[in-house]
Amino acid sequence: MISIAIDGPSGAGKSTLAKRLAKELGFLYVDTGAIYRTIGYYIYTAGISPDDQRAVVAALPEIHLELRYGEDGLQHMLLGGQDVTREIRLPEISRYASKVSAYPEVRAFLLEMQRQLARTHNVIMDGRDIGTVVLPDADIKIFLTASAEARAKRRWKELEERGTPAPLEQVLREIQERDDHDIHRQTAPLRQAEDAVLVDTTELDFQGGVEVLLDLIQKRMGA
Ligand code: DC
Repeated sequence: MISIAIDGPSGAGKSTLAKRLAKELGFLYVDTGAIYRTIGYYIYTAGISPDDQRAVVAALPEIHLELRYGEDGLQHMLLGGQDVTREIRLPEISRYASKVSAYPEVRAFLLEMQRQLARTHNVIMDGRDIGTVVLPDADIKIFLTASAEARAKRRWKELEERGTPAPLEQVLREIQERDDHDIHRQTAPLRQAEDAVLVDTTELDFQGGVEVLLDLIQKRMGA
């Protein structure tokens, strides 16, 4: 099985690019952020404070999540059998996901699920710690980044298209807060694996990003 790990901060283009690359290569696309978001969503709907580590950890055994691939080939998240793919994208859930993902028990709870997918499929997996923790032996590791302003603009556009608009300054502030939280947490912080290739997408549009990454992957796979 071949695995490609793509890590980086939110809004660098990981999921849109990884989705397209997976299609081109015939690989399974695994969005691990969606898995953390599903935990965040559960905690939110259960009325638990995301700052209450003990309560979050105590809730884990109640959480039944499943990844399912629809006929559209897209990853759907099921929580207790219910499709929550759309709900987990709400900005409030981003905040919950970022908080609960800092707890080592939450990360341990999800580790095997992610590894199992890579054992049974050729995958492109995106997240924050795929190349460093989840799949340290991934065949190809990419660290995708872009300036905070460029990432905020993309997220802002995405929110508007989804019908949940928010002011650009607020989106930028939230991105910076999340970056700060993801980089400075104790467990599995966001960082570039030593053997990852750094790709900066600040000046690249979607097509440009696809070309750079596809070229890089094809060279590596051919090597
Ligand atoms: O990629 P995203 O914005 O959907 O991720 C949501 C949150 O989940 C993000 O704040 C960090 C966390 N996350 C993580 O800690 N590890 C991953 N592999 C993926 C996401």
